[in-house]
Amino acid sequence: MALVPSYIQDLANYIPGKPIEEVQRELGLDHVDKLASNENSLGPSPKSIQAMAKSLSGLHRYPDVSGYQLRTKLANRFDVKIENVILGAGSEGIMSTIIRTFLFSDDELVSAANSFIGFRVLANASGRRVHWVPMKNYRYNLEGMANKINDYTKIIYIANPDNPMGTYIPRKEFDEFYAHVPKRVLIILDEAYYEFAQAKKDYPDSMTYRYDNVITLRTFSKAYGLAGLRIGYGFAHDELIRNLNKVKEPFSPSLIALTAGSAAMDDEDFLQQTLNVNTEGYTYYKEQLTQLGIQWIPSVANFITTVWDSDDQAQMVTQSLLKKGVIVRHLKAFGWPNCIRISIGLEKENERCIKALRSILNIQGSYE
Ligand SMILES: Cc1ncc(COP(=O)(O)O)c(C=O)c1O
Repeated sequence: MALVPSYIQDLANYIPGKPIEEVQRELGLDHVDKLASNENSLGPSPKSIQAMAKSLSGLHRYPDVSGYQLRTKLANRFDVKIENVILGAGSEGIMSTIIRTFLFSDDELVSAANSFIGFRVLANASGRRVHWVPMKNYRYNLEGMANKINDYTKIIYIANPDNPMGTYIPRKEFDEFYAHVPKRVLIILDEAYYEFAQAKKDYPDSMTYRYDNVITLRTFSKAYGLAGLRIGYGFAHDELIRNLNKVKEPFSPSLIALTAGSAAMDDEDFLQQTLNVNTEGYTYYKEQLTQLGIQWIPSVANFITTVWDSDDQAQMVTQSLLKKGVIVRHLKAFGWPNCIRISIGLEKENERCIKALRSILNIQGSYE
């Protein structure tokens, strides 16, 4: 008898961006910049660091199962009830709970092919049929996704903005799509990069209009600089949250994560600084990449994806950058073999990345 079902056997291992220490050790480099995982190069919010330090002496106790304090704070901030808020070990933790909670054996899922890899793994690991609809012009093809909805469809997943493309679905387009979705179908709206995207006037911030079948997911991992802690949150109708809370691991997120998330919400200066650094960095990359003749995809998140002629070329550029101490993400595993995603970092990091790209292109001319 097989050890695992075939849909688990067929899963590929998740390969994360290389850690800085590993690259330093392997390549003997003094300095390495990691621009590979869309983290916040400013570090965690200082207020969260202080709050975490204070909470250390309470670590012998389990955290509050209900996450009451943070859920209340989120409910107040976004003008919903505490019954509409869920917490998890990152937004991915909540995605996992959603998949374990709502799927009957025949249920199917619909999403975009080659979008957020974390959801792809969870959906494929569920063993359910998933309709992966190819993107169009590096954007979600909502019309194509609507055409895949059938009597078995239970969950639709949309990352808005998308990772790894950084593109977003404007409000009008989402509204048109929503009109085609039966109310029994749950839509996960993953807004991991919401803080970066919300300045766009036509960005459909799902908290400004709450639909009963939409689950909004957000995270402290990106704009708040707490990726290593694993804390995210979500909003949905009371009944959805009630059921999710039955299935979720009771003591997740951890005590430290709850404390840090709550403090980060009070750190408006840090959030503003993060957004400023990102806007400046994005403007810099747009100008510099254009000057270097490198194709890039307009992004509303904290990264910018570049397009190369081939898988080989993208691979070569990624490896050459690595040797120069810049870790970026070749998107082959995501399904975009000719693309490289660069997370927007601090001014100096961005400059070092562009300098390295310039030198790779000059030295190698035809990139060979
Ligand atoms: C679109 C998207 N959703 C979710 C996540 C995961 O966020 P978290 O750290 O909250 O699990 C990421 C992280 O890269 C992401 O890009």
